[in-house]
Amino acid sequence: MQNLMPKIISLAKRRGFIFPSSEIYGGFGSCYDFGPLGVEMKNNIKKVWWDEMVKKHENMVGLDAAILMSPKVWQASGHLTAGFADELVECKSCHKRFRTDEIGRGRASASCPECGGKLTEPRKFNLMMKTFVGPVEEKASQIYLRAETCQGIYVNFENVLNSMRLKIPFGIAQIGKSFRNEITPGDFIYRTREFEQMEMQWFCHPKEAKKYFDFWQKERLKWYLNLGIKKENLRIKEVPAKEKPHYAKQALDLEYKFPFGWREIEGIHNRGDWDLSNHSKYSGKDSRYYDEETKEKYFPYIIETSGGADRSFLAFLIDAYQEIKGGRTKTTKAVKEIEILLKLDKKIAPIKIAVLPLVRNKPELVKKAKEIYQLLKPHFVCQYDELGSIGRRYRRLDEIAVPYAITIDFETLKQEDVTIRDRDSMAQERVKIKDLVKILKEKLEK
Ligand code: GAP
Repeated sequence: MQNLMPKIISLAKRRGFIFPSSEIYGGFGSCYDFGPLGVEMKNNIKKVWWDEMVKKHENMVGLDAAILMSPKVWQASGHLTAGFADELVECKSCHKRFRTDEIGRGRASASCPECGGKLTEPRKFNLMMKTFVGPVEEKASQIYLRAETCQGIYVNFENVLNSMRLKIPFGIAQIGKSFRNEITPGDFIYRTREFEQMEMQWFCHPKEAKKYFDFWQKERLKWYLNLGIKKENLRIKEVPAKEKPHYAKQALDLEYKFPFGWREIEGIHNRGDWDLSNHSKYSGKDSRYYDEETKEKYFPYIIETSGGADRSFLAFLIDAYQEIKGGRTKTTKAVKEIEILLKLDKKIAPIKIAVLPLVRNKPELVKKAKEIYQLLKPHFVCQYDELGSIGRRYRRLDEIAVPYAITIDFETLKQEDVTIRDRDSMAQERVKIKDLVKILKEKLEK
């Protein structure tokens, strides 16, 4: 679809998914706020990830570590050295900055992609965001905002192991914000400086690392497919040795076909014993695992699945977006304009149920509709809407992916029943009000 990104950005703002940050002050460099529908959708993505990783799998527990950590963590992890730096060039004419890997620098002829000007020699630019703790802004009080959530997992390896009496292999999952001073943020919420990660670290015997690396990449691919992402828009790519993150023995990118190209949405890494051995070295605390059965003491290898809540949000939004020329209903002859259908998986859709009185100028219908809205509200994220024709209201709901619309009409008053309209098939069925909650729960769980 041509020019899809402007359409997605416009829909996201118009319908309350995503707003530019600090917009009344002209916006703030590639930061975004999730609006009323956006926060519901993002919470749903995080919930289905948590359900999948922590509830479904055995030997998996969760964690919520602090964003602010001892700066020693980042020395040990390698993030303060060259390992976590992008190579940057600056245009001598327009002073714009670019990542060398993005503009294919390395060839002497490379020039500024914006104005054609000469570029400076490449230099390393560390991505860690700095801040200060306490009242004095000096070197001693300087700390960092975490650049990946998983370091909170590694430094708690033994706390979790001992308190939960776990045995290897096992996993620790965490969702939380991370921060990187990206040189070239952009493509809407694809690359931002503040973002949310959904990370799982699987601790295993080194001899089993390959087996679990294969297992987890398949599991993660399935997760996206089961949530409706089209197969042809997903692929797994091996990261070549020279582009691998500093901590990884082996790295795969799970990529989505965005309108701006194939891009990573999740990384799957075999981190070997990089993290636990370095934290042991820097902290002086031995975090080797002791296997009581084999009497072996070793650093477990870590297989990591590292997804982005924001990036998968964007992928889900784009994948679900459809435009239907001439409208969805073919019952009337009138040529209608393009209609938008957002076919999000029901689990991810921000609003599950809409309640609509057929007309709004009949007080008895409105009263009944409001009663039904109150009946459903404790069970589902619901929306009440009485403005405009019923057809127009259905279209508004399709645009924001509401799976089911409940219509209250004159029959309702006599029969104590309502119609349920299905977003995808547009089929309508009549059900008794007394059965409504149960039926909707079944439909949403299917
Ligand atoms: N712990 C490993 C790690 O952080 P990564 O490949 O650097 O690996 C993992 O990041 C995921 O985090 C990415 O696939 C992406 O979904 C998300 N992510 C990373 N940087 C991001 C950014 N600047 N903006 C939005 N999401 C980002």
